[in-house]
Amino acid sequence: MTKNIAVIKGDGIGPEIVDEAMKVLDKVAKKYNHTFNYTQVLMGGIAIDETGVPLPQETIDKCLASDSVLLGAVGGPKWDKGEGSMRPEAGLLGIRGALKLFANIRPAKLLKPLASACPLRSDITEKGLDLVIVRELIGGAYFGEKKTYIDENGHKTASDSMKYSDFEIERICKVAFDMAKKRRNKVTSIDKANVLDSSRLWREISHKVAESYPEVEFSDMLVDNAAMQLVRNPAQFDVIVTENLFGDILSDEASMITGSLGMLPSASLGEGTLGLYEPIHGSAPDIAGQNKANPIATILSAAMMLRYSFDMQKEADDIEAAVDKVLASGARTGDIMSEGMTLVSCTEMGDRIAAEI
Ligand code: IPM
Ligand code: MG
Repeated sequence: MTKNIAVIKGDGIGPEIVDEAMKVLDKVAKKYNHTFNYTQVLMGGIAIDETGVPLPQETIDKCLASDSVLLGAVGGPKWDKGEGSMRPEAGLLGIRGALKLFANIRPAKLLKPLASACPLRSDITEKGLDLVIVRELIGGAYFGEKKTYIDENGHKTASDSMKYSDFEIERICKVAFDMAKKRRNKVTSIDKANVLDSSRLWREISHKVAESYPEVEFSDMLVDNAAMQLVRNPAQFDVIVTENLFGDILSDEASMITGSLGMLPSASLGEGTLGLYEPIHGSAPDIAGQNKANPIATILSAAMMLRYSFDMQKEADDIEAAVDKVLASGARTGDIMSEGMTLVSCTEMGDRIAAEI
């Protein structure tokens, strides 16, 4: 098969980690006789520097014309002072919106070789930790009306409105239930229905969707309780579905309990097969350009791309197995390093994973 991939390397460690993911994809292409064509496009800080905006129209057009998009990370202190719409992050939100990627899939799994990097007590993790957060990605406070103004008493005031319509809740809940059917048949919907109207609508609609999935065990949980349950008993979760901002926060928490932010991939999907695949971590400007970054989250994101956008299940399994093997062999980047393991660079990690394919 021939597939066209738009590549957004981005800022900070972005270029380094994306290069390793492409190295692994090229190995897959060779082994399985596929052709992956890459088109590099600009987004984030580098796009601000080179074109004056974080998301040039050309980037949107080229992404829309591709079969999928692979993204490293955007942002850095250099662009932190810009106003909201001129920050690198605005590029990320813009591309999610422009490609109508409403479903963000963030699996968090404790890998055996990394069990010692998990900050939770072993009696908590021995029951396992293997969950998926299905985060609504183009609604809520991120995309609602934003205002900064001087109020009638002269106070500088700002507001972001968290808005959801029934269809937005329905389509993301369906993604979660469909996913649960392929996993352990359990969905937990997370909201703040004791306070927020948008959450009460979320609850009403999610319950309606649940009626069409009688085989899936369904429950609601308030977001504050969920934050606590994730560290108290993470094994209780299979698929979590939640709105944009709660999903952002809970997915960082979920990643931490797996041992490293550097390990977790994500897929952002819309109605069709076009998806955007990125690690859930940021651009780590402090270690950029030093060949120290952990490329595994990006490599696993590439595996998700094969699985969800290209329907290449064997190939995706192959990448995931290669990552497991390399970790089992003791190779570690700095972020997941522990005693007795072998410290390797970003490129070395990529080489080793590609070699296992
Ligand atoms: C994420 C990130 C982004 C988000 C930022 C960089 C805008 O934290 O993908 O989780 O909040 O969605
Ligand atoms: Mg985040």
